[in-house]
Amino acid sequence: MLDAMPNASPKLTAAIRGQIRDLVAGDLANFRDHLLRLTPASRRDRFNGYTDDSFVEAYAARSVKSGAVVIGYLEGGRVRGAAELHDVGQGNREAAEIAFSVEDAFQHRGIGARLFERLIVRALELGYRSLHVTTHPQNRAGRRSPASSEPCSAFSRRRR
Ligand SMILES: CC(C)(COP(=O)(O)OP(=O)(O)OC[C@H]1O[C@@H](n2cnc3c(N)ncnc32)[C@H](O)[C@@H]1OP(=O)(O)O)[C@@H](O)C(=O)NCCC(=O)NCCS
Repeated sequence: MLDAMPNASPKLTAAIRGQIRDLVAGDLANFRDHLLRLTPASRRDRFNGYTDDSFVEAYAARSVKSGAVVIGYLEGGRVRGAAELHDVGQGNREAAEIAFSVEDAFQHRGIGARLFERLIVRALELGYRSLHVTTHPQNRAGRRSPASSEPCSAFSRRRR
């Protein structure tokens, strides 16, 4: 249940070089290429298991077409991180599944936490009451943060 916005992480006050903005249909290739650039370990953590390139390509296209909220972190014109919100109900905005990805070379700079904060604000604006992030028990990054650092404590987490 999302009932309060927790305090901002100190990382959120640090400077970042890139830009955070909503991704639109025209960003599909850029978003897809970001997902394809994830290292095998990060890709496995992001999708909770092995996925081949064709799955990732189809997933990116489906996300954009389905009207999912995708917020991107862009540096040098390339998407280097993304936060996604996918409605999992009947479109009644009761519950959504959320997911995060930051390319390895860009991790540990607070980008994930920033994307997370943006996504939470958007989810609240849209009226979502329940957000879920799916991780597996070995996913240290996904389980520690953003999914379980301060901003994420309002989440329930599902494990596979
Ligand atoms: C989870 C993820 C989005 C975090 O992105 P990020 O930009 O590094 O996040 P932040 O810089 O805001 O890091 C916040 C904290 O997350 C934790 N964290 C991030 N990457 C980690 C890693 N590889 N191992 C363990 N903890 C990690 C740390 O506590 C980190 O703080 P620190 O850098 O001071 O140690 C990124 O690691 C990622 O894309 N992982 C692969 C996909 C995934 O697991 N997604 C989540 C499930 S959908």
